[in-house]
Amino acid sequence: MLLRYFILFLNVFNVVHALDNVGTSGKLRFANLGYADTFRYVGKITNATKESCTCTLAPPAWFSGLNAPLSERLVAHIRGPTQLYKFAYYNVHKFILGSDNNTHNWTQQALFDIAPDSISKQTINVTFLGHKGRDSPCMGRTLTFIGQDAVSFATENPDPAGFSGYVPSDEEYIIYSNFPCPASKVKGMCGVYRKGIRSYTGYEGVTKLFLFEFSMPTDNNMTNQDGRYFDMPSIWLANEHLSRTTEYYDWNNNCSCLFNGCGAYQVFTTNATNKDLLYSSLQTFQGLNRNVSQKLILNGTVSTGQFNRPRNITVRGGVLFDSAGNIVTFLTNNTVFHEELTPEQVEDMLSDIPNIGGELILPSGTLKAPNTTSSNDGTIMRPTSNTIWAIYFTLITSIIQFIII
Ligand SMILES: *[C@@H]1O[C@H](CO)[C@@H](O)[C@H](O)[C@H]1NC(C)=O
Ligand SMILES: *[C@@H]1O[C@H](CO)[C@@H](O)[C@H](O)[C@H]1NC(C)=O
Ligand SMILES: *[C@@H]1O[C@H](CO)[C@@H](O)[C@H](O)[C@H]1NC(C)=O
Ligand SMILES: *[C@@H]1O[C@H](CO)[C@@H](O)[C@H](O)[C@H]1NC(C)=O
Ligand SMILES: *[C@@H]1O[C@H](CO)[C@@H](O)[C@H](O)[C@H]1NC(C)=O
Ligand SMILES: *[C@@H]1O[C@H](CO)[C@@H](O)[C@H](O)[C@H]1NC(C)=O
Ligand SMILES: *[C@@H]1O[C@H](CO)[C@@H](O)[C@H](O)[C@H]1NC(C)=O
Ligand SMILES: *[C@@H]1O[C@H](CO)[C@@H](O)[C@H](O)[C@H]1NC(C)=O
Ligand SMILES: *[C@@H]1O[C@H](CO)[C@@H](O)[C@H](O)[C@H]1NC(C)=O
Ligand SMILES: *[C@@H]1O[C@H](CO)[C@@H](O)[C@H](O)[C@H]1NC(C)=O
Ligand SMILES: *[C@@H]1O[C@H](CO)[C@@H](O)[C@H](O)[C@H]1NC(C)=O
Ligand SMILES: *[C@@H]1O[C@H](CO)[C@@H](O)[C@H](O)[C@H]1NC(C)=O
Repeated sequence: MLLRYFILFLNVFNVVHALDNVGTSGKLRFANLGYADTFRYVGKITNATKESCTCTLAPPAWFSGLNAPLSERLVAHIRGPTQLYKFAYYNVHKFILGSDNNTHNWTQQALFDIAPDSISKQTINVTFLGHKGRDSPCMGRTLTFIGQDAVSFATENPDPAGFSGYVPSDEEYIIYSNFPCPASKVKGMCGVYRKGIRSYTGYEGVTKLFLFEFSMPTDNNMTNQDGRYFDMPSIWLANEHLSRTTEYYDWNNNCSCLFNGCGAYQVFTTNATNKDLLYSSLQTFQGLNRNVSQKLILNGTVSTGQFNRPRNITVRGGVLFDSAGNIVTFLTNNTVFHEELTPEQVEDMLSDIPNIGGELILPSGTLKAPNTTSSNDGTIMRPTSNTIWAIYFTLITSIIQFIII
């Protein structure tokens, strides 16, 4: 009996400990990604450049299935201080982590490479955009091309040979494909977007892999320190629609599809709590009750583990979304950027690195009414902090162990 209590205690202690788990390389994991719900894109923009600027929403679009809504086309956002050296995007018909049955190769759909040791600096299927155009009180600046310095306005896509890849604090560039959007319209391929912008599609695929080689050096430029994100870098993925309407987050004006469920994923991000640590965060409403507050999406569902921020080294890694609802964010020196990746090469990248923190299993199904205080089917997750959530998980597993020992 005493042993049982001891094991119970150990397990709870373990997860509390695991929450602090930090590594220089390894894996952060989420499971059971994908649920059924609706999201709403922007339907109409009125008075874009006036104080009376507003957006109305397009009719709700249902989504469901594997990895939804991150099964939609995504783009990569690079917020400073970050130096990007390489970026690549891959997809594959089917790949399940840890399965022996994976037969298809992953194919590279996009590449950006300016690493010092690379033979040729190149971009394939990459357009660099930034919010450098016309300003709007409710949406911020429009999307335009950016210059070689990655921060200034430009009239054409930068040549990779001279592109710096570095952005300072509070600056961001966004990586789109080179496939131009058809006209702006509610049910069009690219939905409704702002007038006069550069518009390209994001990267498509349900089972997908984004790779990055980067560093996140300290921003010593004190001129920047009053900004909202001073010395808080991030590499994140978002639904392609988001940036075509809005530059920043505003939850109550309908202009940002993020608050209406279109989805994002912070791959390597920081917050003000500790600028030396990188974590991942899922920004979909799976497991969060949007009726309580649309703002829950800002924190999202946070990984239990963290990486050390690569302030003075260059690291390689990325994020993989498999065909069984698993997300793995990883950092490993074994990351390779080949044109095709065999299933074995992808498994090899992930095999020699530790799991950091626990695996967060996302609740299934659509969420129910917000005012229910108890749940019978176990699929309802009320918005609690993730720390508490993770501890509950362990408590439950511990109690199960407690009963069966
Ligand atoms: C747009 O601006 C015009 C003129 O300033 C104003 O009359 C109109 O009410 C505004 N529309 C909305 C939806 O606020
Ligand atoms: C947001 O859009 C909805 C539906 O289109 C509309 O009812 C609501 O008034 C809009 N809110 C704002 C602040 O414009
Ligand atoms: C691999 O496929 C076989 C036969 O289709 C199946 O029995 C087995 O469960 C599969 N293994 C995994 C790990 O999916
Ligand atoms: C570029 O990316 C888009 C979106 O994923 C894809 O449809 C297209 O096939 C890609 N082009 C090349 C040349 O890989
Ligand atoms: C510091 O930041 C300011 C404002 O962003 C910029 O104008 C200046 O060039 C930067 N200085 C250096 C040394 O990068
Ligand atoms: C802020 O970052 C820390 C890691 O530095 C993480 O543990 C925490 O969950 C994050 N907080 C939010 C609200 O995302
Ligand atoms: C985000 O997390 C922070 C820190 O845990 C918390 O103070 C804040 O209330 C959270 N915001 C929302 C909208 O849940
Ligand atoms: C690199 O950065 C870490 C903190 O992120 C620091 O502890 C270490 O001393 C730095 N190393 C060098 C060589 O600057
Ligand atoms: C990864 O490579 C870098 C540079 O070669 C090295 O400093 C670092 O120790 C390596 N990390 C691991 C975990 O092997
Ligand atoms: C998969 O990629 C490997 C390595 O690039 C290549 O040798 C092999 O022929 C490819 N297999 C298929 C089925 O295309
Ligand atoms: C949110 O409220 C709407 C309208 O009242 C309702 O249809 C929906 O089921 C609720 N969703 C959740 C997740 O509670
Ligand atoms: C849910 O609770 C809130 C506050 O507790 C209340 O304002 C709202 O009317 C309730 N909604 C429903 C559908 O019961």
